[in-house]
Amino acid sequence: MGGGPEIGDEEPRSSHARKDRSTSCDLRPAVIPMKLCNTCDKAFDQVNWQCPYCLYEPEKVEGHLALAPHVAKEDKRFKAESFSSLAKLEVRNFWFRSRNRLLIWAIHQYFPKAESLLEIGCGTGFVLSGIREAFPKLILSGGEIHPEGLTFAAERLPGVELFQMDGRRIPFREEFDVIGAFDVLEHIKEDEEVLSQMYQATRKGGGIMMTVPHHPFLWSPVDDFAHHVRRYKTQELRDKVERAGFSVVRLTSFVCFLLPLVALTRFKKRLTRDESDPKDDYFKMSSLTNSAFERILDAERTLIHAGFSFPAGASMLIVARRN
Ligand SMILES: C[S@@+](CC[C@H](N)C(=O)[O-])C[C@H]1O[C@@H](n2cnc3c(N)ncnc32)[C@H](O)[C@@H]1O
Ligand SMILES: [Zn+2]
Repeated sequence: MGGGPEIGDEEPRSSHARKDRSTSCDLRPAVIPMKLCNTCDKAFDQVNWQCPYCLYEPEKVEGHLALAPHVAKEDKRFKAESFSSLAKLEVRNFWFRSRNRLLIWAIHQYFPKAESLLEIGCGTGFVLSGIREAFPKLILSGGEIHPEGLTFAAERLPGVELFQMDGRRIPFREEFDVIGAFDVLEHIKEDEEVLSQMYQATRKGGGIMMTVPHHPFLWSPVDDFAHHVRRYKTQELRDKVERAGFSVVRLTSFVCFLLPLVALTRFKKRLTRDESDPKDDYFKMSSLTNSAFERILDAERTLIHAGFSFPAGASMLIVARRN
């Protein structure tokens, strides 16, 4: 991957190149942002996806451009039904709602001039729909390995470019001001490959935002059930992000005040070999408990906004810039 010939190395066989992509954003670099062909790996700057060099055009699956269809077929871990239950739950669940607020704050804080954002592993599009509401002018794109997730995302995000894609092969070069991966990296064995692809696809001056599960000691059946490959140590994530070429600008835990409760529930599940659906811990609760938890997360976010970075929590947020 990468290192494909520069545009202009060879005459394209067709030309629908975008004529003018200049804007007023300070983040805009001098180089022309580009798509990368899946077949010949050449970079091209075009509105459509037909490669002007080899004329390859990705097919569509369930109405979405399929940039890595074979990978979706090989990955048997996610079930189509899980997207429909997730789509219902995330609207009211404290964790999803609070995480959206944290991410929206982080964009305001660290990428106020961003004009474009790609989310990889966008699932049902819940995060993107929150971002769209908060930043109506931001040009959004969503990539997801499973087309089933994109069906829900498309309902929530009319007009947003959504494509089936593998995070280990992001077919863009210096295209986006911000790339987000929210609770995705822990699902992928080759996480460093994803990070270097994120680097390649981010514009200079732009950056990345990610959330991941924190602390390997919290590992429980919830992680097995969710098909996690790992939970991250703080230094591990920082090192991997820096090795990919980024400079970390913020790293904090969240779900911190609830950490004792999370840890207790997880240890209990491990000890008792509790076979019940581990998702129930997060999702099946009275609306009173749900709102109480949401208020608790609101409180810890006030501290995060004030500049305090938590060293421990159930989840971790990292924001990094591409130099
Ligand atoms: C826990 S879900 C998170 C969904 C969404 N980002 C959110 O925060 O609500 C993880 C998502 O990552 C997707 N995913 C897993 N491996 C991927 C890969 N290699 N490339 C792209 N997406 C991937 C899964 O299909 C799933 O939708
Ligand atoms: Zn090509």
